[in-house]
Amino acid sequence: MADDDERLVSPEPADEGEDSIEKSLRPQTLQQYIGQDPIKHELRVYIQAAKQREESLDHVLLYGPPGLGKTTMAMVIANEMGVQIRTTSGPAIEKPGDLVALLNELQPGDILFIDEIHRLPKIVEEMLYSAMEDFYIDIVVGQGPTAHPVHFPLPPFTLIGATTRAGLLSAPLRDRFGIVEHMAYYRTEDLQEIVQRSAAIFNTTIATEGAHEIALRSRGTPRIANRLLKRIRDFAEVSPDHSTIDVAIVDHALNLLRVDSAGLDRTDIKLLRTMIDYYDGGPVGLGTLAANVGEETETVAAMYEPYLLQRGYLKRTARGRVVTAAGYEHLGIEMPHHD
Ligand code: ADE
Repeated sequence: MADDDERLVSPEPADEGEDSIEKSLRPQTLQQYIGQDPIKHELRVYIQAAKQREESLDHVLLYGPPGLGKTTMAMVIANEMGVQIRTTSGPAIEKPGDLVALLNELQPGDILFIDEIHRLPKIVEEMLYSAMEDFYIDIVVGQGPTAHPVHFPLPPFTLIGATTRAGLLSAPLRDRFGIVEHMAYYRTEDLQEIVQRSAAIFNTTIATEGAHEIALRSRGTPRIANRLLKRIRDFAEVSPDHSTIDVAIVDHALNLLRVDSAGLDRTDIKLLRTMIDYYDGGPVGLGTLAANVGEETETVAAMYEPYLLQRGYLKRTARGRVVTAAGYEHLGIEMPHHD
């Protein structure tokens, strides 16, 4: 493993401290939630319709890269519906009994949020099918000759599943979500607004251009923007002539932290450089590439590749990943000509 825990631009929470700061920054309502406008517009309709019918909201699947606010969105939905939410994750539900315990605590209309739902054990996933579709589960009670099935009715509830890898979800599970939303990387102007909102919550003054520069260098990801803001605030506070976060201090801090103008860090650069230096720019298989930079294939697929693809520095071909002309240009390397 590379030093992922220390990776400043990792979209995963750095530690529990960061988790709790994230909570303090979390919007509570759709109105407060910045960005993801198409999703908010749809959800407003579905939430209002479900409330008018006095029914539970249809099951919701949120998918997209880490750090974009899938958990936050689930909490906002619960708040807007006026129901309780229980949160868990795929790997935390190890056996059917764990799922039964969770479902058993739900009140009518409540939300069960399962993060990383693509990592649910298969037998647990199969129990979810009837739970989602017809609000019951069949469990086997007892052992050996006394074993018998028990039909266990459930209150109507809403399952919200989140995943960074929609492609890994089985078709029967995916098909049971009535509402499927793709969370996209945030636009720069939305990230800028998030940074300004967070700075206000932190009681820090920030120049518009400073917030804009952080937004440009945060990989379209609020979690990263908020983390960079925190680090830059430290630089500003100890600097005698910088009580306000301006573009100069942002640039100074991010250069020291080795976050480049497009938000790439050392590992991103290493990925691209490995492809150029050892594979002539590609095509290279994802597994080979991951091994070369000392990461798990899954980590590269979920955390590094999506942003490089969306920036257009990398593209996928049938034979593997290829560095694009834009990728070469970003690194300041001339693209070789092949005839
Ligand atoms: N903080 C983190 N993500 C946010 C978002 N999408 N809207 C408002 N504040 C946020």
